[in-house]
Amino acid sequence: MAGKILSVANQKGGVGKTTTALTLAAALSRMGKKVLVVDLDPHACASVHLRYYPDAVEHTAYDLFVTPEEGWRELWGKVRHRQEGQTFDVVPASIRLSELEGDLRDRPGKGGIMKMSLALVQDEYDYIILDCPPHLGLLQINALVACDLLIIPIQTDFLALHGLKLLFDSIRLLNKVLPEPVNYRALPTMFDKRAGACRRVLELLERKMGGRMFSTIVGVDTKFRDASAYGKMVYDIDPNSRGAKAYESLANEIVTLL
Ligand SMILES: Nc1ncnc2c1ncn2[C@@H]1O[C@H](COP(=O)(O)OP(=O)(O)OP(=O)(O)O)[C@@H](O)[C@H]1O
Ligand SMILES: [Mg+2]
Repeated sequence: MAGKILSVANQKGGVGKTTTALTLAAALSRMGKKVLVVDLDPHACASVHLRYYPDAVEHTAYDLFVTPEEGWRELWGKVRHRQEGQTFDVVPASIRLSELEGDLRDRPGKGGIMKMSLALVQDEYDYIILDCPPHLGLLQINALVACDLLIIPIQTDFLALHGLKLLFDSIRLLNKVLPEPVNYRALPTMFDKRAGACRRVLELLERKMGGRMFSTIVGVDTKFRDASAYGKMVYDIDPNSRGAKAYESLANEIVTLL
């Protein structure tokens, strides 16, 4: 059966997209699932976290967009990486992804490239996770078109809803042309239950999103920063930490949903 594609997106920066993409990948692989992460952010934070430095990697997600279709099969053989100790495959990003809009200016069907290309490897995985950049554009459109589920991490601070309107505008536009509407769930992140503001934002989110919220709430946990500083996953540092448990719970929800 073809693996499910999960896109992690929110125009707002620093809300936990990359942390969600990587930690969820780790949690799903700990459940025995076969997982691929594709880093679609030109800043390559997910890649660097996993110690793939854009300058040192020959083939990146950029090649998936600019290689002609007849070269895709061969490219998939080169573009996927897995280092020792890593529990999932990764396609690293390249700074060149930031030039994609110009490079593909005249290419027809450019919003559907990722979906078509992933179809070639989808049977090899249970889940494919796409980490999006914090802005609207061709990369995010490709991720929205390709995904079976859009995960929207929302930092539970007072600016939580800022930027979301743009995301929902693009979802509405896409829904007019896609065979099925984009399926999404919001994920509250960096929640601090001692802070009244956080609790109020969470209530507001629950009211606005209705049934489109995960039950999992990711709390603030300094272990995430430690993990990225050491190039590790929270499960390698402290599998019993609150952050580790939260993404385990998210992985369980995902497996039930899709
Ligand atoms: N639940 C959490 N608790 C504490 N810190 C967190 C949590 N989630 C993420 N962080 C930290 O917050 C910072 C931003 O997180 P992350 O890089 O995942 O966000 P992002 O949305 O991908 O950012 P960008 O928009 O720049 O791509 C990182 O330093 C990360 O370690
Ligand atoms: Mg990121």
